[in-house]
Amino acid sequence: MSVSKEQVLAALAKVPTPGGVALPDARVLSDIVVSDGKVFFSLTVDASAVKAWEPVRKAAEETVRGIPGVQSALVALTAERAAGPAARAPQAAAARAAHPADKVQPGIPGVDAVIAVASGKGGVGKSTTAVNLALGLRDLGLKVGMLDADIYGPSLPKLLAIKEKPQTIGGTRLKPIERYGLTVMSIGFLIDEETPMIWRGPMVMSAITQMLREVEWGKLDVMVVDMPPGTGDAQLTIAQQVPLKGAVIVSTPQDLALIDARRGVAMFNRVNVPVLGVVENMSYFLCPSCGTRSDIFSHGGAHKEAERLGVPFLGEIPLHMTIREKSDAGLPVVATEPDGEHAKIYRDIATKVRDQLTNSGTGRVAPKIVVEA
Ligand SMILES: Nc1ncnc2c1ncn2[C@@H]1O[C@H](COP(=O)(O)OP(=O)(O)O)[C@@H](O)[C@H]1O
Ligand SMILES: [Mg+2]
Repeated sequence: MSVSKEQVLAALAKVPTPGGVALPDARVLSDIVVSDGKVFFSLTVDASAVKAWEPVRKAAEETVRGIPGVQSALVALTAERAAGPAARAPQAAAARAAHPADKVQPGIPGVDAVIAVASGKGGVGKSTTAVNLALGLRDLGLKVGMLDADIYGPSLPKLLAIKEKPQTIGGTRLKPIERYGLTVMSIGFLIDEETPMIWRGPMVMSAITQMLREVEWGKLDVMVVDMPPGTGDAQLTIAQQVPLKGAVIVSTPQDLALIDARRGVAMFNRVNVPVLGVVENMSYFLCPSCGTRSDIFSHGGAHKEAERLGVPFLGEIPLHMTIREKSDAGLPVVATEPDGEHAKIYRDIATKVRDQLTNSGTGRVAPKIVVEA
């Protein structure tokens, strides 16, 4: 049974709004996207009216879920400072980008610090680094969560060998999955890997907002967000709308990757998110049989680039067979070879990240007692 946009609009006409106007006529609806029984859209309202609209968002979601043939519905409430005609998402994102100070982003209850792991492009080892960094932070005694926001290539189900689907609590909230001591939520849990999805502006934030705010994260010292690669509109919107305390940029040492990494730093600067540092992944090749080191891409580029950009350099990770095999088998090295040399490198990076967060005074991340003068 397929669901049409018209069916969704007809159902939404019955949802009351604060002004008394029928929801489809209230000039707040984004485009409605229906894909395979999954319905996505957002409501864009004036920032001062967010409280009044939250029940409408809930009611809209429940109403849409009640339409026969609908498997899931994600409705996001997006706040805009200026009242105006229904803003379409790309324009809204551009408007927000032009006014970074206008961002409206309440924290996640119970979560002390949210950090992004980002890269200028795909395939540089962002997810592998994110997972092992999260495990390194765990080894420092922190309670760590991971949010897979890489809508184009969710990889946490694979990297953490998670096959189960999250359960719902009380019909609406989702229970995250626990693995290796990490609390994990992935867009890959919600959408079949085989289902090709075209992500339009409003859908991206709908999905991310749902994973941030409708998941029982519990108490976390740090939440590590695996960002989608790149520096386009979707990434910018996420960087702005997720309450980030900082960002870690992963790059490989080649010049081309470094140019993209620079764009990543610029993107976070633009939305006032501190860059905690740059990690050089696949920095040098370590031969698994003889242990000889070869600087295939003339390693060290990211270190120089970080200096040039005035951001901390967090460390270099070798290109090594074990990292790849373990990572792709869902057995990340920090969890499964904690005494190995790779685990140590990731833990050193985690320590630097933790110190960055603590020193910048942006989070209560360190479990140790900080004595104030
Ligand atoms: N330091 C490394 N050494 C060897 N292989 C790596 C390393 N980092 C990542 N990989 C491998 O490279 C591929 C891409 O890594 P992934 O973390 O999925 O990248 P991204 O998230 O940036 O797309 C994966 O097969 C992964 O196992
Ligand atoms: Mg990835």
